[in-house]
Amino acid sequence: PAIPRPVDIFGVERRNSKGWDITDPVTLADIESRRKAFAAPHRWQAGDAGKSRGVVNPARPQEMVGEVVEAGASAVKKAVEAAVKAQPKWEKTAVSTRSAALLKAADLYEDHAVEFFSLCAREAGKTLADGVAEVREAADFLRYYAGQAEEVERHTTARGVIACISPWNFPLAIFTGQVAAALVTGNAVVAKPAEQTPLIAARAVDLLHQAGIPEEVLHLLPGDGPSVGAPLTADPRIAGVCFTGSTEVARLIERQLAKTAEAEAMLIAETGGLNAMIVDSTALPEQAVRDIVASAFQSAGQRCSALRVLYVQKDVEAKVLEMLKGAMEALRLGDPALISTDVGPVIDDEARDNLLSYCADMESQGRLIAKLDAPRDGRFVAPHIFRVSGIREMEREIFGPVLHVATFGAEEIDKVISEINAKGYGLTFGLHTRIEARVQHIVDGIHAGNIYVNRNQIGAVVGSQPFGGEGLSGTGPKAGGPHYLRRFRKGEVTFMKP
Ligand code: NAD
Ligand code: ALA
Repeated sequence: PAIPRPVDIFGVERRNSKGWDITDPVTLADIESRRKAFAAPHRWQAGDAGKSRGVVNPARPQEMVGEVVEAGASAVKKAVEAAVKAQPKWEKTAVSTRSAALLKAADLYEDHAVEFFSLCAREAGKTLADGVAEVREAADFLRYYAGQAEEVERHTTARGVIACISPWNFPLAIFTGQVAAALVTGNAVVAKPAEQTPLIAARAVDLLHQAGIPEEVLHLLPGDGPSVGAPLTADPRIAGVCFTGSTEVARLIERQLAKTAEAEAMLIAETGGLNAMIVDSTALPEQAVRDIVASAFQSAGQRCSALRVLYVQKDVEAKVLEMLKGAMEALRLGDPALISTDVGPVIDDEARDNLLSYCADMESQGRLIAKLDAPRDGRFVAPHIFRVSGIREMEREIFGPVLHVATFGAEEIDKVISEINAKGYGLTFGLHTRIEARVQHIVDGIHAGNIYVNRNQIGAVVGSQPFGGEGLSGTGPKAGGPHYLRRFRKGEVTFMKP
């Protein structure tokens, strides 16, 4: 019989007591057969019955993925109460026991990788490649934080109950990173996932419980911001909030904590960005174009790290734009569960309608450089490229597959740097140049948490590329970096500049 060609989608190497155990790569046939097993709608019920929300596939809104009975007001209170009660025992639990549970959870996540790929595609519209990256990043967070916990434990104490509030665009990785950091440092957790992606969070919590995190220590509260997030952050028993999402919601939470929480309540907020890239005339055009396409359009542009404004030096503009249009036209939009798809849908009708209205407005102003067609059914927004005079024109983060292009002259690099910094965000920045001295000059001048040179500017790797921004983009410390866990403990907290 024909041996199915292995696709190196998830060839896991795992360290066990006997050394390295290399499991077989997952094949496309595996994915297809196992996907069927997860096709049935999932159901999750919070502690008390609030309203019920149907979860649909953004690529095929007629397909029901599952149903969630969201938390009501009393479930928030009850979860915090139970977490407060569980806190003393959990913080006295040996750090090695807490770490061991995270390591076990990482293994369980990998064992359930195909289920997560399927859920990421059907609930969050993530392509197979993005689903793989989600599982890898989540497992990396679990192992990385497990490995650091003992060191951080010395001379410090746990804070208490932490509210973890996460976005839909990394429904497994960011959800898991926040929760893992809080738990391993001895804090009980009440987690509120984004209302768009509760099923992935529910599955993750199941596995964390199976891995040994006690149920009374980790609580899940599905629901939306106003009905669950707001009362949760207003509860004075919360010792801190770990938030990832928009800058606007981070501000609301900060104000709320200032009103109700104790003075020493913790807030970590990782927020949005208006990310730029500079391509000068010495850049390798093929490489720059490949990295622009990945940075702007992968994940349908729904990454906080995504490229929003490209600055191209005037003398290479025509060539770069011509190649960019060609590369964009080769992208395939469609069902994210298919391996041939490059760009999936956006998350929901609201996101699609806002993006389409923004694009129509830009087009009516005569700024269109290029666009693709989107599939008619489903929540698709085709990649668009628009002309702008500079980032100063941008009023907000446009969270989708929309790239803006500006040009600069040979003597204008410093002006471009000042213009980018003046927006006040500072998440990612990309640079394509082959002038060594220019790299140092720009890196020194740009205010951004993650700067990438001659590569794309998305997909930071836990441990080697700690991720987080400055200014309007976040409070730090960087997730997946050496200082992150310390913020979850009290005492002896010293930070280096992120
Ligand atoms: P969002 O701010 O709308 O929601 C994030 C979370 O906050 C959700 O769980 C939501 O329900 C909750 N929330 C909303 N209102 C609340 C309130 N009043 N009180 C408490 N919680 C509330 O963001 P989103 O649309 O889910 O995600 C996209 C945003 O996240 C983008 O701006 C993106 O740049 C940002 N993001 C940042 C990072 C990073 O690491 N810096 C990573 C991913 C996403
Ligand atoms: N950590 C994610 C990235 O780097 C947000 O794209």
